[in-house]
Amino acid sequence: LENGLGRTPQLGWNDWNSFGCNVNETLVRQTADVMVSSGMAAAGYQYVNIDDCWSTRQRDSAGNLVADPVKFPSGIKALADYVHGKGLKLGIYSSAGTTTCAGYPASLGYEQRDANLWASWGIDYLKYDNCGDHQGRNGQQRYSAMRDALLATGRPIFYSLCNWGQESVWTWGAPVGNSWRTTGDIAGNWNSVMGILDAQAALTAYGKPGGWNDPDMLEVGNGLTDTESRAHFSLWALLNAPLIAGNDLRGMSATTRSILTNTDVIGVNQDWGGRQGYRLRDDGNTEVWVKPMANGARAVVLLNRNSGSTTISTTATQVGLGSGTSYSVKDLWSKATSTTTGTISASVPGHGAAMFLVSGGGTPPLEVTSALRGTGSNR
Ligand code: GLA
Repeated sequence: LENGLGRTPQLGWNDWNSFGCNVNETLVRQTADVMVSSGMAAAGYQYVNIDDCWSTRQRDSAGNLVADPVKFPSGIKALADYVHGKGLKLGIYSSAGTTTCAGYPASLGYEQRDANLWASWGIDYLKYDNCGDHQGRNGQQRYSAMRDALLATGRPIFYSLCNWGQESVWTWGAPVGNSWRTTGDIAGNWNSVMGILDAQAALTAYGKPGGWNDPDMLEVGNGLTDTESRAHFSLWALLNAPLIAGNDLRGMSATTRSILTNTDVIGVNQDWGGRQGYRLRDDGNTEVWVKPMANGARAVVLLNRNSGSTTISTTATQVGLGSGTSYSVKDLWSKATSTTTGTISASVPGHGAAMFLVSGGGTPPLEVTSALRGTGSNR
């Protein structure tokens, strides 16, 4: 969507994966505090997003949504002011149907009324789900109606479509939203993360500045081992996926924090080399994923789905670099730098990934037009 937002994939946090319906203003304020104190804000995280269950069960007599006075006693506007005071942005949630997935009132038929209310509160981001009755209208119609309502407010509001990949949303999502969910819900286990990854391999062509494929929010530090979390974060970064943390930031371990704030990996996510990362090789339980970077380098993820460690190898020319006698390699997790005559290889732990940035071979910067180059303005 050409609303000036999402020139690079969005970074932030959302309460759903850890808290479900138990959202409230204390959680949101404390999360905003930790987003700054943990170094996440400095690493690029910006959006603090409220998911389902924030409202009362009924609209008021005028037809407006009302924040639950027990969960949000100060109101959402005061919360937005607080979050903005931290240099961050606040997101909210609704559905393109008659109810949200948890049964709260949603926005079909109330698009402009709700968009105006959110804009008046200072909301910066809308996650728009697909639950409730659709009143016979298809997804493109329902999601476009909210796009138009958001644009009409005049407030820049990042628009995140959440219709779980239905109706091949990637074929019509670009002029409608800034990102679109491509699958059902992620869960905090390895099989879920790998299943969602498999569904991304065919969608490489659709994500671009202004509109990104969304393989769902992160489960880093939320049920995965640290090794699995590193692999998940590496792959989501390479896919130009939104990086929306789903763990409880207030209690995260030092390792989880270091994964989420790995600025080399985030840098791969935020770089637009003209192409989302793609699966170069699938050898069954081991895979090679590659993303061309704007400066001509290649980001490479070696993924091991086995339970035990396995050596995985590729070469500089296979990942798309020109032929040469020496290439530079940086391990984006250990930070070790080295040179190679061409082989890129690592012993990768089970349920894990290695991630490298490889350059050389006289590979020129990619021809990326200014219209397609991410500006980083939405980080
Ligand atoms: C759907 C979405 C989830 C979450 C829940 C809330 O399942 O896909 O991400 O927003 O609804 O009820």
